[in-house]
Amino acid sequence: MANLAPDEAGIPGTAPSLTPLNLSSSPSDSVGEVARRRTFAIISHPDAGKTTLTEKLLLYGGAIQLAGTVAAKKNRRQATSDWMEMEKQRGISVTSTVLQFPYSGCVLNLLDTPGHQDFSEDTYRTLVAADSALMLIDNAKGVEPQTRKLFHVCRQRGIPIFTLVNKMDRPGKDPLELMAELEDVLGIRAVPVVWPIGDGDRFQGVYDRQTKLLHLFDRVGRGGEGRAPVRATNLEDPALEALLGDSEAAKLREDIELLDIAGEPLDPQKIAMGEITPMFFGSAVTNFGVELLLSKFIAMAPPPMPRRSEKGDVFPEEPEFRGFVFKIQANMDPNHRDRIAFLRVVSGHFERDMAATNPRTGKTLRLTRPQKLFASERETVEEAYPGDIIGLTNPGAFQLGDTVCTGPAVRFLDFPRFAPEHFGVLRNRKSEKYKQFQKGIQQLSEEGVVQLFHEINAARTEPILGVVGQLQFEVIQFRLQTEYGVETLLDRTPFSYARWVEAAPETLQNIHWGMGVRRVEDDYGNLVCLFESEWILNYLVEKNPNLRLLETAPMGVVPK
Ligand code: G4P
Repeated sequence: MANLAPDEAGIPGTAPSLTPLNLSSSPSDSVGEVARRRTFAIISHPDAGKTTLTEKLLLYGGAIQLAGTVAAKKNRRQATSDWMEMEKQRGISVTSTVLQFPYSGCVLNLLDTPGHQDFSEDTYRTLVAADSALMLIDNAKGVEPQTRKLFHVCRQRGIPIFTLVNKMDRPGKDPLELMAELEDVLGIRAVPVVWPIGDGDRFQGVYDRQTKLLHLFDRVGRGGEGRAPVRATNLEDPALEALLGDSEAAKLREDIELLDIAGEPLDPQKIAMGEITPMFFGSAVTNFGVELLLSKFIAMAPPPMPRRSEKGDVFPEEPEFRGFVFKIQANMDPNHRDRIAFLRVVSGHFERDMAATNPRTGKTLRLTRPQKLFASERETVEEAYPGDIIGLTNPGAFQLGDTVCTGPAVRFLDFPRFAPEHFGVLRNRKSEKYKQFQKGIQQLSEEGVVQLFHEINAARTEPILGVVGQLQFEVIQFRLQTEYGVETLLDRTPFSYARWVEAAPETLQNIHWGMGVRRVEDDYGNLVCLFESEWILNYLVEKNPNLRLLETAPMGVVPK
């Protein structure tokens, strides 16, 4: 049995590369910069270990010295996303962060999605800016509800999804059972890249099916802040029995044989289409398996992808600078009370102070003070490439889904609104504050904090507010009070589903809407149905085959 150095063990960069990459050079040209970027998001259910994994990824990227910087929870340290007062008070993540870090010649942009149960539409919108997703699963819990929702959005976008089964140092489900669960619940076939040896107290490491080497787990203690040691050998090693125990060695050989015969190959095309998910196993808290995942992830995950526009696909290598606004965030710095529009660069080269146009308004602006965010620190961006995220501080100039570009005007498509799941009406407590109340609600809706639904053909006075995560109601009330001086009361309404309606007028005329459905219109005048239960929604669909109910809608009028 040989103890191999990480490089020899196939850790950074030696796994078969499924996308052409030249990691050894340090490209100064735009094409090289595109090739080395990976822009991704982690999708998971609360408590699966996203914060812990993010810390460890940053640790391996050398972006932080000690793991623990991201997790402010339970007073560990200052959280990178800990901007909002409310967030500090509650110790949860309300806002998303964008973290950039280098690894093995690549530049990784990690779009951090709010993971608490009360997540928001921002979580979904962030996925629109990602080129791939890393799905984190608790080995004992399997696929949980929030993971399912986020997976669904990634699936609709058709982006590659990588899976890490976490907490292998704890007893969990059988790995074959987890593979079956991914297929049954999510409809995606898992192809293990590494395979675990035991779990819980008997977790001994993973077998790398690509390099055919074994990575053995040394318990460095929970929360280990150093890098996890890695040792390797291979399955033919006669010392395997002594190392793992007779039964574990036999089971491993058996499992691998089964996977090799009955399993599916890791087809890059199928990964790219989101048809199969490369599967990893590890333990984020002890660092185990994180670097193996990272090294293989950068080899398999795609560089920045082209995006659809009204004038056809825009490719990252095109010289004109183009990007789209996927998130607007206010009050990140309590001293400034400003708004930042987060822009995902799609093509070209961004330089500080450059002039660019917003084709929606036709206005050309100088993009001064662009920001890159790390922790609560802001750093001015001098330049950025496709895949990068920059924060633009021009107040009021941008709305969600806006394109920002140089050269001939283009407008990106495919920037959706997502169906809210919680609804309520806000009552303004003091009539003299009516104007501020109206202005506040309108501005918060433009920022994407809330969606507004109105009575059909009626004055738009007291809209129904719809949010994806119910914490957003508290965010709205908090912001109306602190920014607009308006006190409000919330009346919850009994709906839990919203769907945009796509149907010919004659179809609509003949529908019997029944109880538990309310028809309203959105800000753009699109017909929307609010449902009290999934059963009512499904019943309506079943009875009216010509009625199309959409979970997402474009920013604007839904095409008929
Ligand atoms: P989240 O951001 O997805 O909500 O999860 P987070 O990283 O905060 O992790 C949730 C809990 O799971 C934490 O424990 C964390 O330490 C633990 N955890 C994360 N990865 C692993 C792992 O690989 N193995 C084990 N055994 N535990 C893991 P906690 O008790 O809530 O917090 P703490 O006191 O440990 O900080």
